Amino acid sequence: MENKYISIAIDGPSASGKSTVAKILAKDLNFVYVDSGAMYRAYTLAVLKASLDPKNEEESDRLINKIDISFDHITNHILLDGKDVESEIRGNEVANNVSYIASYKNIRLFLVDLQRKIAKGKNIVMDGRDIGTYVLEDAQIKIFLVANEEERARRRFIENKEKGIETSFEDCLENIKKRDYIDSHRSFCPLKPAADSILLDSTKLSIKEVTDKIKEIIKEKGF
Ligand code: CDP
Repeated sequence: MENKYISIAIDGPSASGKSTVAKILAKDLNFVYVDSGAMYRAYTLAVLKASLDPKNEEESDRLINKIDISFDHITNHILLDGKDVESEIRGNEVANNVSYIASYKNIRLFLVDLQRKIAKGKNIVMDGRDIGTYVLEDAQIKIFLVANEEERARRRFIENKEKGIETSFEDCLENIKKRDYIDSHRSFCPLKPAADSILLDSTKLSIKEVTDKIKEIIKEKGF
């Protein structure tokens, strides 16, 4: 039987604009939005709070099935054990450690299971690194959103400034390069475009231009 729900998977490297675009699309289409990166960030925050070492897989694995990660679907904020940690997960300490946590297979399996449960029986927009290749392999629409490194670092620098997070452009660039490297070289579910994804380069496009393009793609596919 054909799946009556529509899934839109938006993958790509750090700060390529996935979350911004996915959020707008979900709102305009009245779909549920899931920021899978926020879940890896929340797990990382929990590891740091428990004084465990994020560079140690065995230690980090200890929180599997012990913490509750969910979303408030009205605000799109992430909740850790019921507490809104949306701004806490955006800080430098989490950003500097999240890609280690995301490279551990058992933690990924724990979070992927949650992601699939949230998506079940809903029209969904989910963004991340492995949504089109693994989490929602059957998604009808798969976008791989890229932009050059300098533009991505510039966007993250401005975003951090607006949120009151202190970073320099150089720090943002370095963090993006480091995370992209770890994300695309891990053995389990690395960052890579799904064979049936559509590549979109947002370097020279505005947010509206990117969302309009994705809406066109959705129409062209007959949804
Ligand atoms: O917002 P930004 O693009 O910087 O990153 P994010 O989407 O919040 O994801 C943070 C980190 O979580 C990434 O650098 C990956 O290491 C990891 N991640 C992942 O491995 N798989 C996903 N589906 C989503 C995020």
